[in-house]
Amino acid sequence: MSAVLDTHGQHDEHAHHPSGIMRWVTTTNHKDIGTMYLWFSFTMFIVGGIMALVIRTELFAPGMQIVDPDRFNAMTTYHGLIMVFGAIMPAFVGFANWLIPMQIGAPDMAFPRMNNLSFWLLPPAALLLIAAQFVPGGGAGVGWTMYAPLTVQAPMSMDLTIFAVHILGMSSIMGSINIITTIFNMRAPGMGMMRIPLFCWTWVITAFLLIAVMPVLAGAVTMTLTDRHFGTAFFNAAGGGDPVLYQHIFWFFGHPEVYIIAIPAFGVISQIIPAFSRKPLFGYTSMVYATASIAVLSFLVWAHHMYTVGMPVEAQLYFMYATVLIAVPTGVKVFNWVATIWRGSLTFETPMLFALGFLFLFTMGGFTGLVLSIVPIDVQLHDTYYVVAHFHYVMVAGALFSAFGGIYFWLPKWTGRMYNETLGKWHFWLSFIFFNVTFFVQHFLGLAGMPRRIPDYSLQFAEFNVISSIGAWGFGLAQILFLYIVVSTIRSGKPAEQRQWEGADSLEWTHLPSPPPYHSFETPPVLR
Ligand code: CU
Ligand code: CA
Repeated sequence: MSAVLDTHGQHDEHAHHPSGIMRWVTTTNHKDIGTMYLWFSFTMFIVGGIMALVIRTELFAPGMQIVDPDRFNAMTTYHGLIMVFGAIMPAFVGFANWLIPMQIGAPDMAFPRMNNLSFWLLPPAALLLIAAQFVPGGGAGVGWTMYAPLTVQAPMSMDLTIFAVHILGMSSIMGSINIITTIFNMRAPGMGMMRIPLFCWTWVITAFLLIAVMPVLAGAVTMTLTDRHFGTAFFNAAGGGDPVLYQHIFWFFGHPEVYIIAIPAFGVISQIIPAFSRKPLFGYTSMVYATASIAVLSFLVWAHHMYTVGMPVEAQLYFMYATVLIAVPTGVKVFNWVATIWRGSLTFETPMLFALGFLFLFTMGGFTGLVLSIVPIDVQLHDTYYVVAHFHYVMVAGALFSAFGGIYFWLPKWTGRMYNETLGKWHFWLSFIFFNVTFFVQHFLGLAGMPRRIPDYSLQFAEFNVISSIGAWGFGLAQILFLYIVVSTIRSGKPAEQRQWEGADSLEWTHLPSPPPYHSFETPPVLR
């Protein structure tokens, strides 16, 4: 056992190792790759964030134009694509790389070189998405969903975008193969699947989702590509095709994609809440089954994004009931988190604050999701700011807050240094307040009928848009504080405790979030 564990952090003692930039280009070490994923993700978060600020500045007041409408539409498109594929997904793959080998007692990921390739496919894809703004014709203002038939007429940046999606898909599939193989085959002796920390479980399930749906997205954009250049008419009614077909294919990918983002976030939260409640996670087994049922159900609800395309009422009813059903396993998870907190010995360090922020806001995003799943309501709210508010509660307060919480939680373990707790709390409260200032009012805008993806609006929407834009700038500026906290921790943070969160940062299976192993250790085997 200890032989396996001792290989952690020992890589530097073997043979020759390139230094400088070549170290990062050639590295096969899961920690290096995890670090690169996280920094890449943060860079994309800044790029996508700047695009969000262009959007919110354009919408600051009615009647004013700062960027031209095509540029505005490109901003909404690439803001979405960059945040989903460049910022959020790589962040959780970064967590996976750092944590999975350590949590299951494996020396590294199963395929270290493929791991390197998975990461290094990302920068070229990101460059394509950024370059798409600058090629002739400007960025394709088609929305992140890339609906046909608009994509068939879009400028050449659409081709760059399609190629970027293909590369990102390859990266995700390789990462998923690595994660599944590692967790299935490289667990410490005696560690059954129902003993692994919940973060590992959430990634097993996410990896299966990715392998199932990334090829579907690749198919959708490939059909778009051949419609554009090779004379096919998959999505062209005049040629016998059907533009609604695109939406069916896209959302068969797109809805599970929501859970590809959310499920690893659930995993991070399930590690943080027990540590700061000083109680084991309530309902480990039900958490695993709830997560798996969410994943299965996520394949059966795609057309709730398309109620207004003119589908039969029977189909609308089916997709409505199936969608409402997802609230059951999601409710199980929220119940388990609350039950873990219940009568715990609570403290409120920054990671716990972000976890609780997640719990409040994600639950709220879930409720507005339920509202939108009801057909007669959705017909009213479709393509309004209510939808924008809903999915930003799920994506920002869900995925981003849990990523922030996870970074504060594991930073002492990753760097050996402790972040500044006061500044961390400031970062949380600024993010929490300005997030709500930005997005809460968008519910009212949507209910009042303001459409999304439009660079201007009529007078009655003015007040809430001013508030939302101010909130966005506040939220954006608060992230400079986050960068400062992380950099100053790495450079000059106080040395962290050996077990910063009373053991939650050592091998998790000996600690809170999962049941004790069959062959209980008296004391946790200490890494490093
Ligand atoms: Cu959906
Ligand atoms: Ca405007």
